[in-house]
Amino acid sequence: MTQQIGVAVIGAGMVGRAHASAYRNAASLYDLGGPVARLVTIADVHEPFATDAARRFGYEKTETDWRRVIDDPEVHAVSVAVANNLHREITEAALQNGKHVLCEKPLAPTIADAEAMVKAAASSERVNAVGFTFRRSPAVNAIKAQVEERLGAVRHFIGNYWCDYGFDPQRPISWRYRGGRGSGVLADIGSHLADLAEFFCGETVAVHGTTMATLIKDRPRPLGVAVGHAGGVELSTERDPVENEDVCTYTSRHANGAVGTFALSRVAYGHANTLKFDLFCEGGTASFDLNRPAEFSIIDDGPARAGNGPRTVSIGPWHPYVAGGLPMDFPTVGHGQNDFFVFQARAFLDQIGGLGRLPACPDMAHGLHNLRVLDAVTRAFKEGPA
Ligand SMILES: NC(=O)c1ccc[n+]([C@@H]2O[C@H](COP(=O)([O-])OP(=O)(O)OC[C@H]3O[C@@H](n4cnc5c(N)ncnc54)[C@H](O)[C@@H]3O)[C@@H](O)[C@H]2O)c1
Repeated sequence: MTQQIGVAVIGAGMVGRAHASAYRNAASLYDLGGPVARLVTIADVHEPFATDAARRFGYEKTETDWRRVIDDPEVHAVSVAVANNLHREITEAALQNGKHVLCEKPLAPTIADAEAMVKAAASSERVNAVGFTFRRSPAVNAIKAQVEERLGAVRHFIGNYWCDYGFDPQRPISWRYRGGRGSGVLADIGSHLADLAEFFCGETVAVHGTTMATLIKDRPRPLGVAVGHAGGVELSTERDPVENEDVCTYTSRHANGAVGTFALSRVAYGHANTLKFDLFCEGGTASFDLNRPAEFSIIDDGPARAGNGPRTVSIGPWHPYVAGGLPMDFPTVGHGQNDFFVFQARAFLDQIGGLGRLPACPDMAHGLHNLRVLDAVTRAFKEGPA
């Protein structure tokens, strides 16, 4: 009989909706026989978000108090998809109540919080996971295979993550703009890029030369409830200070000797979600750009140098995740970041069911490690003249 895992999503904002949709679609991936999600509850403190997401994605119940989800015996697994400062309390309670937990990144606002979460995970027999979703990108994994099979060790990782969600000073204040040094663009999107650098180059052994700046000093208070990057709500004339940084750059050294170069911005005009990186390897170069997620480019040491150069490879069923992972699983039909959440949900459900068809989700100890890297980046910032 097919195993049914009761799932709930706590937080029905931007990423909560991606998790809600992902559990629904995960049942259709990679042969039948794996456990399927029973879509039990969507919880959000803002009730209309919870009911809207439950209706759209087909969940049975809604709650406004996450504690009721944690107490519900019909819920076996939860996604924690709320602001970072709520991750610890919800995750600890869920693990203590015997739930499997997939918590969003960054794992927590502080290392101390993350350490407590890892401790709670260690005393639970349930699956604990953190949502580094870009590890589920078919193109990212295709590049990894090329590095391992042909290109040789990465010598230089050059990563950029540029967003424009904060470029307009009239975008309202939200949890994303609150917290101490390093909790801004670095924690929000730099956490992904730091993780991808380690995916290719191994552990970060040193960080140098951090520059960080807050370019927009205050933002209006929203009058309504905003989701995600918080556009489209009425604004107060009162403004609150922005507490963390809009841009961050730094360099790193990795366990394999590689150098990393990073540029992060949440005020990059016109770049809604540009995550891109280049890998300069011993025997070639490979590049990825999330604006064109279903392809990558590669240069290698082909025999005829005069006719060699960068070429684009379309992702197809011969690459990871695609065969059986998309309804039409041939090249150029397209896929994107939403699909990464579906592959992640499939892996999480499989792990709960004891199947190892996909790479396991990174665990909370991995999330703690990521925070230690971000902390090293923050400590490498030497305040100078503005
Ligand atoms: N993996 C990814 O690619 C990715 C992408 C975006 C966000 N994230 C992460 O996901 C988390 C949420 O980000 P978001 O952009 O979805 O935020 P968001 O602000 O859009 O959504 C958060 C939701 O939580 C709700 N909420 C607030 N307090 C609550 C409570 N006590 N109980 C239940 N619900 C509550 C809010 O009403 C809101 O709907 C963050 O940790 C963020 O870093 C990850």
